[in-house]
Amino acid sequence: MSKLLVRKDLQSDLKRNVNDIVKEIEGDDLKVVVFMENTEPPVKVKPKVIKFEPTVTLLRKLAKEGQIEKGVAKIMFYSPSTGRSKGLTPNMMAGFQYIEPGTSTTPHSHNMASIYLVVKGEGYSEIDGEIFKWGQGDIFVVPANAVHSHTNSGKEEAILFDVTDSGLLENMGILEFKEKE
Ligand SMILES: [Fe+2]
Repeated sequence: MSKLLVRKDLQSDLKRNVNDIVKEIEGDDLKVVVFMENTEPPVKVKPKVIKFEPTVTLLRKLAKEGQIEKGVAKIMFYSPSTGRSKGLTPNMMAGFQYIEPGTSTTPHSHNMASIYLVVKGEGYSEIDGEIFKWGQGDIFVVPANAVHSHTNSGKEEAILFDVTDSGLLENMGILEFKEKE
């Protein structure tokens, strides 16, 4: 087990002396971090298990009763300890998509990349105009900025699990979503 680094403020006296100068530099949306200030170790994301059964129950209900996309449900998970990134870890987001038989998701793109695992069902994804068929257990990749939609061409529900790097992009302030033009 490695030892947790606890940083110390080694120049609190000096900081008091330079406070007036720091205030003069700071503005509405600008702060000065004097070296070794604000040095608490980052909040640690807690290990966790996300239970499948209640997740599927939620997805079925959302797909049936949701108003956004008929027959489709999308949910994402995040750890509040990641703050602005709203990731499940600071860099990564994870979620599920549920698609009823004979239903497609609305084509769109985003600058996060996604890796999908087909948990259940069969269908295909159109990614930048190309068709990729998938079935249970398959993994497929949607690169950043690729226009994509998913179709359930089977007779049973399709459940996709995906991991994206949206947390990283959100932290950088450059996360973007686009509807297909
Ligand atoms: Fe997407």
